Amino acid sequence: MSCCHYALVPGNEAAFSVDLSAIQFGHGVLADAGEHLRAMSCRRVAVFTDRTLARLEPVDVVTRAVQAAGLDAVVYDRVRVEPTDVSFRAAADFAREGRFDGYVSVGGGSVIDTCKAALLYATYPADLRAYVNAPAGEARPVPGPLPPHVACPTTCGTGSECTGIAVFDDLTLKAKTGIASRRLRPTLALIDPTCTRTLPSMVVAASGFDVLCHALESFTARPYTARPRPDRPSARPMSQGRNPWSDVGSLEALRLAGKYFVRAVHDAADSEARESLSWAATLAGIAFGNAGVHLPHAMSYAVAGLVRDWRCPGYPPDEPMVPHGISVVVNAPSVFRATAATSPGRHLQAAEALGADTRGASEGDAASVLSAALIDRMRSTGVPNGVGAVGYAEADVDALARGSILQKRLVDNAPMPVDEGAMRALFRGAMAYW
Ligand SMILES: [Fe+2]
Repeated sequence: MSCCHYALVPGNEAAFSVDLSAIQFGHGVLADAGEHLRAMSCRRVAVFTDRTLARLEPVDVVTRAVQAAGLDAVVYDRVRVEPTDVSFRAAADFAREGRFDGYVSVGGGSVIDTCKAALLYATYPADLRAYVNAPAGEARPVPGPLPPHVACPTTCGTGSECTGIAVFDDLTLKAKTGIASRRLRPTLALIDPTCTRTLPSMVVAASGFDVLCHALESFTARPYTARPRPDRPSARPMSQGRNPWSDVGSLEALRLAGKYFVRAVHDAADSEARESLSWAATLAGIAFGNAGVHLPHAMSYAVAGLVRDWRCPGYPPDEPMVPHGISVVVNAPSVFRATAATSPGRHLQAAEALGADTRGASEGDAASVLSAALIDRMRSTGVPNGVGAVGYAEADVDALARGSILQKRLVDNAPMPVDEGAMRALFRGAMAYW
């Protein structure tokens, strides 16, 4: 038996979920934030952002819109780029003490994720580890509904406005981990693509590769039909595996990214490219919010969490940091070389959507064709040449593999079983590409 071209397996999952935030996409939608929050019966609204963005137009537009709707707006600008357990706790304290009944986040994934965590812990106070994914935390379910959250992304990558995931760096464990619950998904996403016009090129490169990897990983994840059937529908995980719905968003995101990504990085004035990448980010966010990502993201948590002294041009220079999209893409060619054998047709289809010439390619070429398409885009956008170029060497492979294998939710969503030995091989293959 099959469902929408997915072969069903007796005893396994036979249904998939379609979950998404309400979305309004287009020029000027940020100015509507206040009206939306008023319609949701909010009166006192927390505006989450970071210090840099706090001085820029999108935050000003949203704050004025909230006030113009007759609501109180209190700005929290202490969000940390690449948040930590410490910065999550500080944001939760602010949210609890402020007694807000509505939230709006204006920024990249760090801002939106911090807002999700803050409103969760302000609504259902608990030790930070309570709702954090196992094994780092207790993975307790979110106890009930959360207050309205309007998410306004200002980059074109993370897709956080469409997902129920909040990621942070656990400074004690020296690893990235997160909180995952459908209840964390923002109530409404307001996506104004004009916000991307002022982004520095390396920020567009990093967030654009995040988009590409969301789409590629969602498209090549294990199929939803490979999981055992849950004993109740509410036990169906958000990372449910690739499915007919996520395939639609992934492929269109790859097609748009293939056409516009490099242009968007190199020319801030190319509004067609930057706005198309913004739409690709939304589609990829919807896809991975319903399929889940896998190995490049699992490995990225260790690449970002174990950083020693590498700093990325275009990002705050005060401390070492590998931006999320960079920490993901440095692993990607190595991963897709390894996963191609699990679904060569899909890997070729993805490469073709990205713009690679697949004429005459056989299934045996899938690994080299897709990884070459990615490496080509890495070179032409000036991102680091693999894990070695962000400060790691052979001596770090054990620690990187150990940190990655802990990301069970993501490792389990891969299209093939991966143990620590296989993870070490993936990192060795990711040290340098050219
Ligand atoms: Fe990501």
